[in-house]
Parts: sequence; structure tokens; C-alpha cells
Amino acid sequence: MSRVDGVFLDPNAMVPRLTTYYIGRYLEQAWIVESTQDEVRRRATEGAPEGLVIVAERQTAGRGRKGDRWFSPAGSGLYLSLLLRPRFPDVMLIPLALGLAAAQAVDAVSKHRPDLKWPNDIMIGDRKLGGVIAESQVQEGQVLFVVAGIGINVSDPVEGWPPELASTAASLGPDVDREWLLPELLNAIETNYEAVKTGQSAAMLAEYRKRCPYRRGAPVLITSGDGVREEAKALEIEADGSLLVEMPDGTRQRLYGHQVIGMRIETR
Ligand code: BTN
Repeated sequence: MSRVDGVFLDPNAMVPRLTTYYIGRYLEQAWIVESTQDEVRRRATEGAPEGLVIVAERQTAGRGRKGDRWFSPAGSGLYLSLLLRPRFPDVMLIPLALGLAAAQAVDAVSKHRPDLKWPNDIMIGDRKLGGVIAESQVQEGQVLFVVAGIGINVSDPVEGWPPELASTAASLGPDVDREWLLPELLNAIETNYEAVKTGQSAAMLAEYRKRCPYRRGAPVLITSGDGVREEAKALEIEADGSLLVEMPDGTRQRLYGHQVIGMRIETR
């Protein structure tokens, strides 16, 4: 079987490395799905437990944030979705906790030390290595569950990057083993998610801020929702996971993920 067709991840290689209590203890693999987000959502409505993970070798309609597609060819990426059933108010911190976990897992298995671009892009320099999407099911103001999806470009696609990604995407390189990366990722997710769950997110956020150069003066292009764009200045990532910015008129605002169109690094 070639990398173009995909290679099933070997549970015997992964399970001994998994130290979690519940994240990834139910783990299913699929060859091809439209999106692992849909698979986990369906399982969530059937009553699947918190911590269920579905990994796909290839996705035909992988979803990114802001309506983008996530390029998901076989053999080169890690594409997974995870079911969370948070019973705490700080759900906004979940994507940050997961993005940090992805960066920490990359530290463990490669020579790379990714940055985080608020809220949850995993970056190598100015190229995107991976991303996190969190889709919540809400009923009468209550979050019933969150389906969190993570995509990481492990090696360059066998058939190359599509032109629109060729100058913006990064991968870890051919030496990185997905069977090592996945358990490291799940271990780090459980640690960070537990920190949020138990109200001890301060250390997790401090770690996040260290890896996030997109603050303290970085220009942020924002949208007010009615198409109006403005450039603000990032100040800090707040305790609730929002981004505090200074607006052109000097006022301060807290921003949430969907309000930000783009960010650049100006200061480190
Ligand atoms: C982003 O836009 O940065 C988020 C990308 C998230 C991609 C992952 S791949 C696994 C899971 N299934 C999807 O359809 N999307 C997420």
C-alpha cells in the first residue's frame, strides 16, 4: 500500500504511548470520510462518551474555520475529531487548549517548535502547519457537546500541495511518525482540557501566550460582521480566551475568533 492510498495507523504502536484516562480511549479509524466532524457529531447524538476520537486517513470534505476547506489527502496528514461534553462555562478556552496541545505534541515528536496564532492556528514561521475547529451543539443556552477537529500536516502530500496552499502550508517532514504524534497529541489534550475543566487554566494560558507572538502590538484585521474592516492593535490574550485589542479610536475591545480576519506579527 502506498502513501497515496493511505496507511492505517497501527494501534499496537499507539496504545502503549497513550497515558490518558478518557481522551482517545474510544478511538475509531476510518479510511475515507467526508469529514470526521460529521462522524463524531453523529456519534455524539447517539450518546457516545466524552473522549471519543475518530481519525480518518483521508477526508473528501474536510472543514476548516470560516467556511474554508481542509485539504486532507491520504498518507500525509493527521485528521481527527474528538467529542467533548463540557459541564463548565469556559468553553471558549477549549480551542486554545487544543491548539496548545497540538504544538506540545509536535515538540515531543519533532525538531519543530510551532507558534500559535490566536485563536488556534498552529504555525511554523508564517506557514500554517495545522488548525483546530470547535463546533458546539447548543440547546436553550446549554452546550450539549463540542466536536473538536484537529488537522496537522505531517508530511508533504504525495501528489504535492494545491497551488493555493503551496506558499502558505507547512508540514513536519517525512521523518515524523503519525503513530507517535497521535498519542502525544491525545495525552496533551487531556492534560490541557483537565486544566480548563478544573478551573486551573492560568498555567495553560501562560504557556499559550509564550507561544503566541500575535499579541502585544501585533496588527489585527477585524470585521464587525457587516463587512466593515478595521485594523486594530492586539494587546493580550485574556483569561477567557478572547483577544483584547485597541481600536483605532483608542477604545479597547475583546474579540472572539470569528471577528478576526487576519493577523500579522510586528513584535515578538
Ligand atoms: C482550521 O481552519 O484551521 C481548522 C482545520 C481543522 C481541520 C480538521 S481535520 C479533522 C477535522 N475534520 C474536519 O473536517 N475538520 C477538522
